[in-house]
Amino acid sequence: VNHLLGIKYLNELDIDLIFETADHFKEVINRSIKKVPTLRDITIANIFFENSTRTKLSFELAEKRLSADVINFSASQSSVKKGETLIDTVNNILSMKVDMVVMRHPNPGAGIFLSKHVNASIINAGDGAHEHPTQALLDSYSIREKLGDVGGKNVVIVGDILHSRVALSNIFALKLQGANVKVCGPKTLIPKYITTLGVAVETNLIQALEWCDVANMLRVQNERMDISYFPTTREYTKQFGVNRKILENLNKEIVIMHPGPINRGVEITSDVADSGQSIILDQVENGVAVRMAVIYLLASKIK
Ligand code: CP
Repeated sequence: VNHLLGIKYLNELDIDLIFETADHFKEVINRSIKKVPTLRDITIANIFFENSTRTKLSFELAEKRLSADVINFSASQSSVKKGETLIDTVNNILSMKVDMVVMRHPNPGAGIFLSKHVNASIINAGDGAHEHPTQALLDSYSIREKLGDVGGKNVVIVGDILHSRVALSNIFALKLQGANVKVCGPKTLIPKYITTLGVAVETNLIQALEWCDVANMLRVQNERMDISYFPTTREYTKQFGVNRKILENLNKEIVIMHPGPINRGVEITSDVADSGQSIILDQVENGVAVRMAVIYLLASKIK
């Protein structure tokens, strides 16, 4: 398959191959010459219908470090505003001899839909509350780097599970690699189906943190929130926010992750986000190597 639409469509061997390839690219990036000539004959369009900082810049850097030609499309500055459809938009871009599309879209399944209607390799850069596969890959890659392995580790995903594409992709990726996974958050923000994915639910934050090796603190997605779902921000922080005092009272040192952007003082305080226990910026750094690996492996099927 010439697409990365979700972790759901991968197996453990796919993830191993992506990580081994990312190891190689991370070594390349860490040298003074950060670029390889590998994809000089590939053109990639980054199509973003939703805001992004990390994913957009990380994909663009990954593509440039592979020597691909890159064009960037932001829906808010485009003819989408005049009513042009998604398929027309992408087919017009593809007619300029583009080989691969990286797309972020607010609608769940947008990448799957597109893959059935256009002739190009599609990478899902986040589709609504559905999947964010490269985020989950870089998250697992960062756990592997920090703890040596993902298999057998206890990982808790804390917060707004209901609206989170990061949570779903992480659950698929972590389970494939043999991690034990719990979710923790307000009942109103945990979908009922989650236990069918082999994930335990914990509503007590301290117990979840005592159990885990890694806590992935999700952003509260106010933009996708129906007000009736939510405890107030103050209540949320009181019950599910992590601060230094909470970490110091645990029996062990755990690894803190966050996909970004952080609501500082809501999910985690600054003294946690910026501490030695946090690998938040390592996640961002690893995102480039992981995305280089994904693009490289997909492009090798095009050529
Ligand atoms: N983690 C993540 O997807 O961040 P952006 O929305 O800034 O891309």
